[in-house]
Amino acid sequence: MTSVPILRTLRGDSEQICSDCGGVRRKFYRRHPFPVPGLASKGLWLTTDCRCVADARRVRREELTAATRVTASDPLPPALQNHDFVSFSTGPHNKQAYQYAFKFVQGFNKLRDGKGLLFYGRSGSGKTHLACAVANALKTKHRVAFAYVPSLLDQLRAQEVDLHRLLSADLLVLDDLGSERPTDWSLEKLLIIVDGRLNEYRPTVFTTNYPLEELEKRLGMRLASRIIGTNLRILVQGNDYRLQQSGFRQPR
Ligand SMILES: Nc1ncnc2c1ncn2[C@@H]1O[C@H](COP(=O)(O)OP(=O)(O)OP(=O)(O)O)[C@@H](O)[C@H]1O
Ligand SMILES: [Mg+2]
Ligand SMILES: [Zn+2]
Repeated sequence: MTSVPILRTLRGDSEQICSDCGGVRRKFYRRHPFPVPGLASKGLWLTTDCRCVADARRVRREELTAATRVTASDPLPPALQNHDFVSFSTGPHNKQAYQYAFKFVQGFNKLRDGKGLLFYGRSGSGKTHLACAVANALKTKHRVAFAYVPSLLDQLRAQEVDLHRLLSADLLVLDDLGSERPTDWSLEKLLIIVDGRLNEYRPTVFTTNYPLEELEKRLGMRLASRIIGTNLRILVQGNDYRLQQSGFRQPR
């Protein structure tokens, strides 16, 4: 079968010429698995970005990787070590999420089924904060590990991951699941971590800002069904706390 990439413009404004490098800022393609004109509406959307957009993304990724690097003295990256229950303000929208997280900590010693937590909800709603509140509350008495999933995927690709540390921790936090589409190979490794922990009844706390239905598309059914099916799903509601603090008015 031939694959036919067809250049298309999406919604008129999508193909801007970048004023910095002169390249197309966002190029949209449709890749058709076979050349059938009648199927022009089907096929897979692909995008490529100009050098500046790709560079900016790489810089942002490197910043996040640095910010989420874990040192030997604490299982959590420095910026997340102060995320605790006390500093988390609650209201009607997030009280239940807070309570589930708190109850998980209280019951941790008696936990036998390996059932962890899956925080989902929109960006800035406090998912990472709550996941870290759990980890910070448990880290003195238990072996806790933390991984920012996009960096973890990079490290897995580069074979720089101490799998044993992630598999054997009493609690593992996997932050920001689904924000990067993993390669089949890194997906397989992620599955080894998630599955390996489940088999030993070791709980994992996940965060994602993807709707759960979408996780399956991004992670594949084998991984997504384990994560969604075996953990307590907690919707963290509310506006973007970061924007709120900066005084930015958000649509309801
Ligand atoms: N209810 C809250 N009380 C106090 N601080 C909060 C609360 N919710 C969020 N924050 C703070 O706002 C910032 C963003 O929160 P956080 O990183 O937990 O969001 P998130 O849901 O993980 O977002 P993303 O999906 O973008 O990763 C953090 O500095 C966090 O400490
Ligand atoms: Mg987060
Ligand atoms: Zn450019």
